[in-house]
Amino acid sequence: MSPGTHILVTGGLGFIGSCFVEMALERGYIVTNVDKMTYASRTDTQFHTNPHYTLIQKDISDLETLPSHIAYIINFAAESHVDNSIKSTHAFLKSNVHGVHNLLELVRKTPSDERPVFIQISTDEVYGDILEGSFSEEDRLKPSNPYSATKAAAEELVIGWGRTYKLKYRITRASNNYGAGQNEEKFIPRIMKLARQNEKAKIYGNGLQKREWTHTTDHCDGIFLVMEKGVDSEIYNISAGEELTNLEVAEKVLRAVGKPADFYELVTDRPGHDVRYSITCDKIRALGWKPNVTLEHYLSNIS
Ligand SMILES: NC(=O)c1ccc[n+]([C@@H]2O[C@H](COP(=O)([O-])OP(=O)(O)OC[C@H]3O[C@@H](n4cnc5c(N)ncnc54)[C@H](O)[C@@H]3O)[C@@H](O)[C@H]2O)c1
Repeated sequence: MSPGTHILVTGGLGFIGSCFVEMALERGYIVTNVDKMTYASRTDTQFHTNPHYTLIQKDISDLETLPSHIAYIINFAAESHVDNSIKSTHAFLKSNVHGVHNLLELVRKTPSDERPVFIQISTDEVYGDILEGSFSEEDRLKPSNPYSATKAAAEELVIGWGRTYKLKYRITRASNNYGAGQNEEKFIPRIMKLARQNEKAKIYGNGLQKREWTHTTDHCDGIFLVMEKGVDSEIYNISAGEELTNLEVAEKVLRAVGKPADFYELVTDRPGHDVRYSITCDKIRALGWKPNVTLEHYLSNIS
């Protein structure tokens, strides 16, 4: 990858996208970011004045042209909160499915020798839950809620467009992320916010649902590896493999913000709630990836 390579990032003001943009600029990429700037966008990013950064405020499903001479599209743009998807599905279809369709069509209409490689940022939630063992990239998709269903649908579009129109693509599926700049609707920031207001954390069901956790910078390191060293038409799981129940995470977060570990209440479970996610990461590790951050370390440094 030569310095000065131009990449198109979508959703680059979101939690993970903004981390990726920051790292991309540090690594010498020229970044154009298409972001609709929804409620989930960050307003505190430092890179907006970087001369190698351009922001286009636009919905990916309404984008009419791609910038010229881009080497990669890294598609982070999505509605990302499961609870919102259960309340109302429309925005999820528009951004996560129609948006991806529009981007793929824009790539298809680009002369074949100028087409960027399409990198779809997906999630371990597309597999659905697994009670024992771990899903590998070959396993079938069986999403459990409207969010993960739209993410699975997006992947299928990418794969179908790849085969029929010979688009170059790669897909990443990451586990739950944590780190700076996450919207307060999400599990860890919400616990922190409530605790600061001296309110108990609200935990769905019995709290024994298991998730794997990955820090955003580790996730983004994995995406860079897929971009720089990955193979076209391949899918890469990315997870640090820190498997914890929701209660265990809540207890760690509560202790980190100075509250008793039992400063929570159990509330009515979310419909369709997945019991456990787990993925194998041999493929991404074979590219040289390894996680550098632990949840414990992250929590010990929060203010
Ligand atoms: N957060 C996680 O734990 C996690 C884990 C695995 C995969 N992912 C995936 O990573 C991606 C980023 O997740 P996140 O947590 O940073 O999301 P986020 O909700 O924090 O940010 C999403 C960003 O995309 C933008 N956006 C939404 N719809 C858009 C549209 N139609 N056009 C243009 N911009 C749009 C928003 O304005 C926002 O800036 C998503 O595709 C998500 O499915 C997230």
